[in-house]
Amino acid sequence: MSDESEVLLQAKQEFQAPANIIANAAISEAGYEKLYAESIADPEKFWAKIASEELHWHKKWDTVLEWNYPDYKWFSGGELNITYNCLDRHIAGGKENTLAYIYTNEEGKEERITYGELLKKVNKFANGLKEMGVVKGDRITVYMPLTIEQIVAILACARIGAIHSVVYAGFSASALRLRIEESQSKVIICSAYTKRRGKIILLKSVVDEAVDGLVYVEKIIVHQREEKFELVEKEVDYYDFIIDQSDEMTAEPMDAEQPLFILYTSGTTGKPKGVLHTTGGYNLFTHYTTRLAFDLKPDDIYWCTADTGWVTGHSYIVYGPLSNGATSLIFEGAPDFPDPGVWWGLIEKYKVTKFYTAPTAVRLFMKYGEAWPAKYDLSSLKILGSVGEPINPEAWLWYYKNIGRNNCVVIDTWWQTETGGHMILSLPACKQKPGRAGRPFFGVETDVVNKNGESLPANTVGLLVIKKPWPSALRTCYNDAPRFQQYWTEMKGFYFAGDLATKDEDGFIMILGRSDDVLNVSGHRIGTAEVESALVSCESIAEAAVIGKPHEIKGQSIKAFVILRQGVVPSETLLQTVKNHVRNELGAIGMPDEIEFVDKLPKTRSGKIMRRVLKAKELGTEIGDVSTLED
Ligand code: PRX
Repeated sequence: MSDESEVLLQAKQEFQAPANIIANAAISEAGYEKLYAESIADPEKFWAKIASEELHWHKKWDTVLEWNYPDYKWFSGGELNITYNCLDRHIAGGKENTLAYIYTNEEGKEERITYGELLKKVNKFANGLKEMGVVKGDRITVYMPLTIEQIVAILACARIGAIHSVVYAGFSASALRLRIEESQSKVIICSAYTKRRGKIILLKSVVDEAVDGLVYVEKIIVHQREEKFELVEKEVDYYDFIIDQSDEMTAEPMDAEQPLFILYTSGTTGKPKGVLHTTGGYNLFTHYTTRLAFDLKPDDIYWCTADTGWVTGHSYIVYGPLSNGATSLIFEGAPDFPDPGVWWGLIEKYKVTKFYTAPTAVRLFMKYGEAWPAKYDLSSLKILGSVGEPINPEAWLWYYKNIGRNNCVVIDTWWQTETGGHMILSLPACKQKPGRAGRPFFGVETDVVNKNGESLPANTVGLLVIKKPWPSALRTCYNDAPRFQQYWTEMKGFYFAGDLATKDEDGFIMILGRSDDVLNVSGHRIGTAEVESALVSCESIAEAAVIGKPHEIKGQSIKAFVILRQGVVPSETLLQTVKNHVRNELGAIGMPDEIEFVDKLPKTRSGKIMRRVLKAKELGTEIGDVSTLED
């Protein structure tokens, strides 16, 4: 048998991490089993212990968990400041000169910032926000690329209890406006532009369009870059804003349930949901999962390639790594520019030890071929993480061989914007079953159930649920409590994740994809309804239906079926106009890869579009039950 097929075979079965990883890891296989059992037998006792050991509390909590179904509170009565845990305590512990971040970009510019310097910058910014009149509970929208300036802005909000709403800097003006309106942000912090693939992408002009006429937006703080823009009216320069501010500020104790951030994510309806996370439980859970998933050690150089605009960036670039006092690399740029070796060059240069990326990126590099990573010394690597979508065995194997050089462990991590942190994962020193996300994290009780919420036998496809609240569970959907409640009411009182899964005899969970009308395009979540609303807002379109199709690199691609208004003639130009329209409405993420003009759409008698039928037809698979089909 060739080497390759041997590993592939292993990939389908059980796999052990290299001995040096197992020997040094915080959690062993036996340790996992014991601690997991304890954490499930008495989650409150478990979390109370971890919370006292891992975080600094200004005031200890009265109750670990208050569960008034479907609402829950963690560490009620407790007080802490997440930025204290991320910054001050490391400085107090002698890590003032430890690097918090190494920033680099496509042009090879580099900035290094220590914990001591980061705290000073955060304090200056937080003092500036206070002087501006920002108070606890105010919402602030952040529309910036991955930079130290962005992380400072995020932490400054958290330091004073302002709720940040970070919007991915690839979203269009209308998507940004919707998020500003939904959160009623009174301050916007933005960058003038970002550079991607050598091109300047203006961000400030997107903000100008998004805030047009929004009177409650009082100030716009603009992070100017090499090329300066003229600022008017409400606008203030990021650096002018902090220059005269003191770099000292005592971290104010916050209630454990003080809202920390809102992050908009896609659901099954056209409007994104404002997932709200709070301070104590989120700090604890992201801290602890970061430490254990990446088995963090003091000399690690950690690199998560996500963008701070998504939850992975919030939890595993900002809060989790900082709370652990880690040193992170951050990179503002594309994965394959100026060439497909850029990431591997960075790993070599900075001796990255722990690396966290998405299967879509792995598949992109598979396409470019193994000669690219082969040019670089990747021997510093120890743990390779995966997130965002199922990692197929081929991609797993390629990642393991060509990046890990058969000497690292590949860990999968399943979670969601709503869960705040890793829920199912393969801890590095534990038994691994490649192709399966792994087993639940401590204190997380998962199951695979049928539509009635009844537990299914092993290896049966069903719906993934989480039985009880965990510390970093979303607390609500901002200004939309009914949408929050749906998570807990749809499936017999369990948290319904919206994913299809199977569970094997050992409790290993395999994720098969979404069970609802939510697509996963390059690891980005997008609702079919969102794309459909964007399509029908185009004046030439009467009706639209969107499906996801399997795609070699992106995981899924978007196909739209469109009925034109009477008298509108289909053409190549119209196709482009429609695509551009969706890009303007949603940003590039939501743009359909294919558009087909049709005369009719399959519908139920009650008028609901049967996307399932469209999909089956498109993919040439079984159509299934069509008894409800109208025509
Ligand atoms: O379908 C699952 C998929 O991504 C969804 C959550 O998307 P989002 O909230 O944008 O968060 C992405 C980053 C955490 C899930 O419902 N997903 C995420 N991670 C995995 C995954 N599917 C399979 N395996 C994973 N490791």
